[in-house]
Amino acid sequence: MKIAVVGTGYVGLVTGTCFAESGHEVRCLDVDQRKIELLRSGGIPIYEPGLEELVRRNAKEKRLSFTTSYPEAIAGADVVFIAVGTPPGETGEADLSYVLGAARDIGRSLTGYAVVVNKSTVPVGSADKVAEVVRSATRHPFDVVSNPEFLKEGAAIDDFMRPDRVVVGVASERARAVMQELYAPFVRAEQPVLFMDLRSAELTKYAANAMLATRISFMNEMATLCERLGADVDHVRRGIGSDRRIGHPFLFPGVGFGGSCFPKDVRAVMTMARQIGLDFDLLRSVERVNERQKRWLVEKATKHFGSLAGKTFGVWGLAFKPKTDDMREAPAVSVIEGLLGNGARVKAHDPVAAEVASKLFHGRGVELTSEPYAAAEGADALLLVTEWNEFRNPDLARLKAAMRQPVLIDGRNVWDAAKVRAAGFTYYGVGRNSAV
Ligand SMILES: NC(=O)c1ccc[n+]([C@@H]2O[C@H](COP(=O)([O-])OP(=O)(O)OC[C@H]3O[C@@H](n4cnc5c(N)ncnc54)[C@H](O)[C@@H]3O)[C@@H](O)[C@H]2O)c1
Repeated sequence: MKIAVVGTGYVGLVTGTCFAESGHEVRCLDVDQRKIELLRSGGIPIYEPGLEELVRRNAKEKRLSFTTSYPEAIAGADVVFIAVGTPPGETGEADLSYVLGAARDIGRSLTGYAVVVNKSTVPVGSADKVAEVVRSATRHPFDVVSNPEFLKEGAAIDDFMRPDRVVVGVASERARAVMQELYAPFVRAEQPVLFMDLRSAELTKYAANAMLATRISFMNEMATLCERLGADVDHVRRGIGSDRRIGHPFLFPGVGFGGSCFPKDVRAVMTMARQIGLDFDLLRSVERVNERQKRWLVEKATKHFGSLAGKTFGVWGLAFKPKTDDMREAPAVSVIEGLLGNGARVKAHDPVAAEVASKLFHGRGVELTSEPYAAAEGADALLLVTEWNEFRNPDLARLKAAMRQPVLIDGRNVWDAAKVRAAGFTYYGVGRNSAV
């Protein structure tokens, strides 16, 4: 099939590349000229494991191309994906202007029947709005489909190629058949394409993220309880995760959730609910707990040192999670702002997010180091914010020699408390009390 993907960010580039890999002819479009030029020259604008090689191979084999021209991308396409951003608007609702702008330009460029698939995360009812905008710009027939994306940054290729499920909202048999054919190479009997109505598909994406965010805030709240009651959250986590009704994933306490999806999608659900007179009380608490949790590291440091003024803090990890360079709403931003706001100095290291971080913290006195131990040099404490694999087993002797004071504050519970304490460090973890 001929496929166009509008928006070449994390979702669009992965989607386009994976469909090209499965043999389709894919044209990826973006309004960002620099992004397209970089892709055409063989580079990629984001860090995502395995993506660069796939992009190169499929571009070389002429199944994947890049353009800034709508007519060039859309002409003759059987399927057009919309994968542009839906950032939070001022009152918490998803900003649909990029999606509707793309819909208008797609409509103007259609040359025949096409299935217009919305992959961006959008409020319930957006498919109708997209259809209205496309209809006002074309005389060609088309169908609108809702196909929310569930990939995880850092494991995006694998998630796309081997999805747990594919959710597709359709209103016509013709569109359903096209989507079935498109996803056939990626799904198995136990990981099906779930067809449903458009509104249910749109809401399923928000429901999934809201549920995952709720689990995280629940465990963060539970970790606070552990700290105050003298229990250990690692034991409690294992104890409840072994219950098959609960399961182990997403039960790790930490420094709060961030990224481009959970915070904005939780807010969007609350706004959707509010607009129809419903108060989604539970999610308000999820958000409140998360805001508090993002302050956990700075609060621990303040409790230990009394005042942070004049102190130096090493920070390991800046991206909102490992294996990505994405820093949108990353907890590290709140942590660093908290430290700077209290008069501390910050030296930080991240394996891939340094470039993004240098733009974000430009002129604000954050020293970004090219290797982890340089961030610990002369530090009064080292704070672990993102659990990159390379931070899991540090050379404790080297760390101790580099730091001014041997204090480790582990925002992801990755270090062995007993081991680091035995090496002479003062150790704090999230909700951790026992050393076993
Ligand atoms: N990033 C994730 O992990 C993830 C996962 C699932 C769903 N989503 C959802 O997918 C959507 C895209 O997210 P993302 O992280 O890929 O965003 P992104 O910001 O990385 O990429 C969006 C791209 O769209 C381009 N764009 C904006 N307006 C355009 C237009 N009118 N025409 C062509 N291109 C345009 C931008 O230049 C940008 O390159 C969002 O709705 C998001 O909530 C994201």
